[in-house]
Amino acid sequence: MTNHLTNISLKVHCEGEIYHIQTYSNEYRSLMMLIYDKISPEDFGDCLGMGKCGTCLVEIEPEIVLNSFQRNEETTLLKAGAVDRSRLACQILIDEHINGLAVKILRS
Ligand code: FES
Repeated sequence: MTNHLTNISLKVHCEGEIYHIQTYSNEYRSLMMLIYDKISPEDFGDCLGMGKCGTCLVEIEPEIVLNSFQRNEETTLLKAGAVDRSRLACQILIDEHINGLAVKILRS
């Protein structure tokens, strides 16, 4: 079996700053873990990826279908009053589908 790695670039907006992040497929378990490691926003990812706390809420641009774990995400997004294009970063996998996306960290 071949171990194929895809280079991935992302632009992340966090509290007025823009971060250009480089990674590769499956380097992190989820987009939340990547953002937590590279930027460490305060109070981000409180439930450690269970899809329950809503603190990893992000807006994705452009809106596309992304591979995800789909753990509790729909319910948590409803509770958080999420807008269009909002997702839980902890449910998004690090793969080629997120290459080139802009991600904005949303604060409630
Ligand atoms: S880390 Fe809690 S919902 Fe994503």
